[in-house]
Amino acid sequence: MTEPNTLSTIILSIFTILPTAHTDSNPYDSETYRPLGPLVKCSFLPLEFLNCDQPIDHKGNQTARDITGHGCVRFGGVLYEKVERTKVQCKALDNIECHGSRTFLKDGFPCIRYSGHYFTTTLIYSILLGFLGMDRFCLGQTGTAVGKLLTLGGLGIWWIVDVVLLITNNLHPEDGSNWNPYV
Ligand SMILES: *[C@@H]1O[C@H](CO)[C@@H](O)[C@H](O)[C@H]1NC(C)=O
Repeated sequence: MTEPNTLSTIILSIFTILPTAHTDSNPYDSETYRPLGPLVKCSFLPLEFLNCDQPIDHKGNQTARDITGHGCVRFGGVLYEKVERTKVQCKALDNIECHGSRTFLKDGFPCIRYSGHYFTTTLIYSILLGFLGMDRFCLGQTGTAVGKLLTLGGLGIWWIVDVVLLITNNLHPEDGSNWNPYV
């Protein structure tokens, strides 16, 4: 009864010794791609198996965006249609077996970033401390914030206007980031 056991051990060790590559060159490229085979294309892998870069920020330069072919001209936007989408560079994680190029561009990443601004917190600041310009200080709009502070919230009018602007989604963080979704 020991014979088959030894044999399977030998076969197992052969498979363990077989080389596993960690470099960019894909050892599976030499195999022909079979759509029904077990090896999926690297670009079809879900995000859990990929390491994706942040979208490139072209800082409003459309020419640079056209030359690179991907990246964001403008960040931000609240409505789905208003948010730019772009391709980013992704790389399949080491030890994940897949077919084709391990580094590739993946589409559909939104041009959005967060920098710790919360809508509810800002609204509470705006209502309670609007006459001191606290809401605009927190959003990073220092210039108008000082003006608001010195005029005591535009003698109450600016105070109210900013609350309305916030609620109607017309007052945003100065750095172009989006409201943090976790309140
Ligand atoms: C936009 O990008 C292009 C290409 O990188 C560069 O030549 C040009 O100077 C940039 N324009 C501005 C206004 O930065």
